[in-house]
Amino acid sequence: MTSDVETTFRVHAPGRVNLIGEHTDYTGGLAFPMAIDRGITLTATTTQGSIELTSADGPGQVHLRLPFHDDPSTVEPQWGSFIAGMAKELEATNGFRGHLVSDIPAGAGLSSSAALECAVGKALGFAGTALELAQTARRAEHSATGVPTGIMDQLCIATASAGHAALIDCRGLTVEQVPVPDDVDIVIRFVAHRTLRGSAYAERVAQCAAAEAEIGSLRTATLSQVATIGDETIRRRARHVVNENDRVRHFADALRRADYVHLGRLMTAGHASLRDDYETSTPKMNAAVDQLNATPGVFGARMTGGGFGGCLVAICEPGTIRHGWIVKASAGARVLPPNG
Ligand code: GLA
Repeated sequence: MTSDVETTFRVHAPGRVNLIGEHTDYTGGLAFPMAIDRGITLTATTTQGSIELTSADGPGQVHLRLPFHDDPSTVEPQWGSFIAGMAKELEATNGFRGHLVSDIPAGAGLSSSAALECAVGKALGFAGTALELAQTARRAEHSATGVPTGIMDQLCIATASAGHAALIDCRGLTVEQVPVPDDVDIVIRFVAHRTLRGSAYAERVAQCAAAEAEIGSLRTATLSQVATIGDETIRRRARHVVNENDRVRHFADALRRADYVHLGRLMTAGHASLRDDYETSTPKMNAAVDQLNATPGVFGARMTGGGFGGCLVAICEPGTIRHGWIVKASAGARVLPPNG
């Protein structure tokens, strides 16, 4: 969006909800997220040599001199670290002055940070492919947070297509857009704030690496190979990943057949695996998931996102659940038409 002539523009990037395929992306597994009709909209004017941004939701003002060479994680206010990460990755010299509004709660597991990174990439005139945008945004996330997250969030947000969920192969970095039927409700319910900084997320990444050092890629491992892992905790972590990749395959097939009962069972099994084998859920989250699963009209519910709090996602008969957000599969990060 940058040029010598000042122009005003708007960009939008959605949040995402992961339907299934949790903690599989950083071992080259399968994930199945969907961009939602909640997101970040940035309205700005191009400038040279700086980024100045205010937010309707975050404190303070972000002011960065370009090119940005410092450590993004030290930028204050903290939401500015994602912007700094993108500016640094893109070696931006032309910036913008503007304001952002968001209706994705931060710290809820709905990828507000990945949405911000992708929106800033668009605002800085990123001209590469959607995959390149996602890879750049992932590196920016790492430099902003120090958490070794996978590529699911950024790849979903960069590539999303309205009305579709994204079946992501994190080994080949390919995305298949699968239509989401409109005769079911996809409901997100907020349970608790969390941050992945300082959480056991990095420990889980290391535990998967330990499993792979013993039996090779978890993407291709079988359950009988998993059973040979000596350490009981590492064995359970690996079992989650192998089973979860399988659940994603079955979930995508069931979605194509509109077999909601089967979808629900897979979600519920996925949650049990996160709770027992991967241990990224919390008692409060488990209680909320159990309560929804016991509600007539709910096909299935599970925790969504990195865990340790955040949101749950449920698939329900239309109109069953009123407490929560009924979300629609939405388009990905984009520059909005001037009057759109
Ligand atoms: C966070 C990370 C993703 C992914 C999920 C867990 O959202 O950013 O890369 O690992 O957790 O599935």
